[in-house]
Amino acid sequence: MFSETPNMHSSTPETEALREAIFAYARTRMAYDPVPLDAPKSLEFLRTQAPNTVTESGLGGIKALKLFAEVLAPACLSTDHPGYVSFIPTAPTEAATLFDLVVSASSIYGGSWMEGAGAVYAENEVLSWLAREVGLPDSAGGVFVQGGTLGNLSALVAARHSATAERARQGIPRPERWKFICSAEAHSSLKSAAAVMDVEIIKAEVDSEGRLTGDAVQRALDDAGDGVFAVVATGGTTNFGIVDRLREVGDVAKRHGLWYHIDGAYGLAAILAPETKHLFDGTELCDSFIVDPHKWLFAPFDACALVYRNPELAKAAHTQHGEYLDTLTESGDWNPSDYAYNLTRRVRGLPLWFSLATHGIAAYRKAVSQNIQVTMEITEYIRGREDLVLVREPELSVVVFEKRGWQLSDYQTWSDRLLDAGTGLVVPSSHRGRPNTRFAIVNPATTTHLLVEILETME
Ligand SMILES: Cc1ncc(COP(=O)(O)O)c(C=O)c1O
Repeated sequence: MFSETPNMHSSTPETEALREAIFAYARTRMAYDPVPLDAPKSLEFLRTQAPNTVTESGLGGIKALKLFAEVLAPACLSTDHPGYVSFIPTAPTEAATLFDLVVSASSIYGGSWMEGAGAVYAENEVLSWLAREVGLPDSAGGVFVQGGTLGNLSALVAARHSATAERARQGIPRPERWKFICSAEAHSSLKSAAAVMDVEIIKAEVDSEGRLTGDAVQRALDDAGDGVFAVVATGGTTNFGIVDRLREVGDVAKRHGLWYHIDGAYGLAAILAPETKHLFDGTELCDSFIVDPHKWLFAPFDACALVYRNPELAKAAHTQHGEYLDTLTESGDWNPSDYAYNLTRRVRGLPLWFSLATHGIAAYRKAVSQNIQVTMEITEYIRGREDLVLVREPELSVVVFEKRGWQLSDYQTWSDRLLDAGTGLVVPSSHRGRPNTRFAIVNPATTTHLLVEILETME
């Protein structure tokens, strides 16, 4: 007697009905224009409305889907709503979202060429395109990881591994403590990477507009002493969308033989737009960079493109060794798991690949450019309003502003009202202790008209 395939793995009238119900749900969700903003609910509310969902005998798919559609999904913010302009929103294209469904349905293992060659090939097409935009040689390559946090960590691990190997080669002992330099306005993930790696993070001063300059890096290096292995520049800070002086920073890093990483998680997409391309002068100097398609390249969560000038250096740092993996690691194939702190992976670069293959690069340049146009228009509008003050001149697609006389509580009350009305998510923020608020514009459905409407509610 051999065991039989349990029902939940075979196609039955029930699973077929469920398939149709799920497709219908996805179709409806994607057809909203605009999608309802929705809002978080309290734990008590969810416990009451959706009690005991995980039971010994199961609810049945149709009932579980109903619960999701009626209770759980409306308790999640729609980050692709045109009025969702806080943090960094997301705005996947239809093609990218649709293809995410295909990825989900396909059980592709994205860690190795042997198991996922076709998908890995397509992902690599996208990474090569990004490398070309940045100005890296054809030999550049990398991997799509879960997010910018993991991308930054993986790049820095590769950088330290290279520095360690180089010192060993030269017969120089390891430093007492490894260190890397970034700007005081760099993303929190860098501090987190430093903690995970147990290295020191040196935050160099920014200029009056919030940029890291070559001189600031040089001063930080002069003070740092032994052990600096990398310099990180930010190509679009999270808070203000400011681009560091990438060429100056790169020049200093190269002069000192240091790994140069660019964190372009949010902003590097703006290299595609004619209005902002010049801000990215010097990217070709980098040893690694990241850019998150789930931020400004119109792909669904979660995806960070991590690219190295010399992928061999990353491979030396990241390849996992085990008897069960030998057949993969000894094959000489391009295995994405070798290029980051990951092994099993979803082929999360495919939604972007499909959308790019569908629409072409020019459509991406146009969409990013349109976000920048909206940013410029709303900036002009804010400048023209007596009651509003820009905190800094926007460079990419983030606009930070204050309402004269408002305290933090005024911003909070206003923000709550906007959320309650389903108009938008615009949360309070602050700079140097002064409360403000900000628009992060990465959604082509976010129009100047809508932002003006939001500003008109600031009373
Ligand atoms: C500049 C920058 N770097 C890194 C990150 C972290 O990316 P993720 O949230 O995808 O981990 C962000 C997120 O906003 C960011 O803006």
